[in-house]
Amino acid sequence: MPRRAVEQHQPKMVFLTSPNNPDGSMMTEEESILALPVLVVLDEAYIEFSDQASRIKWVQQYPNLVVLRTFSKSAALAGLRVGYGAFPLPMMEYLWRAKQPYNVSVAAEVAACAALTNMDYLTKVVTLGGGTNPLP
Ligand SMILES: Cc1ncc(COP(=O)(O)O)c(C=O)c1O
Repeated sequence: MPRRAVEQHQPKMVFLTSPNNPDGSMMTEEESILALPVLVVLDEAYIEFSDQASRIKWVQQYPNLVVLRTFSKSAALAGLRVGYGAFPLPMMEYLWRAKQPYNVSVAAEVAACAALTNMDYLTKVVTLGGGTNPLP
């Protein structure tokens, strides 16, 4: 379905969410969409709670793929609005130009770094949410 929509409407960019909120369904046709002339932004906010592998490494392979992750779910830091993304290198120059200064608060940065250095905490949060892999 997303592939047909992209072919029909020819957008410059498409946002996909996998796992999807709220039904948890996973995308299965990313590769065929990535073959189209469109920038694909893949939201993996819930990937830690899925059995399926993250697509984050695909960013090295596809120049039109961006993968976004958040600490809101896997580190229980919702409300701090902190996350990260994997972007094709040539895109970074333009993103830095558009980025607002101080768009991540100091509290959010400290909390995210603390979470990343505490694997027990990440495992506990993800396990409580029914997931199995805190850093896929
Ligand atoms: C699929 C999905 N992506 C992103 C977000 C929000 O992420 P953040 O808290 O980093 O803005 C949510 C929050 O509910 C979500 O469900």
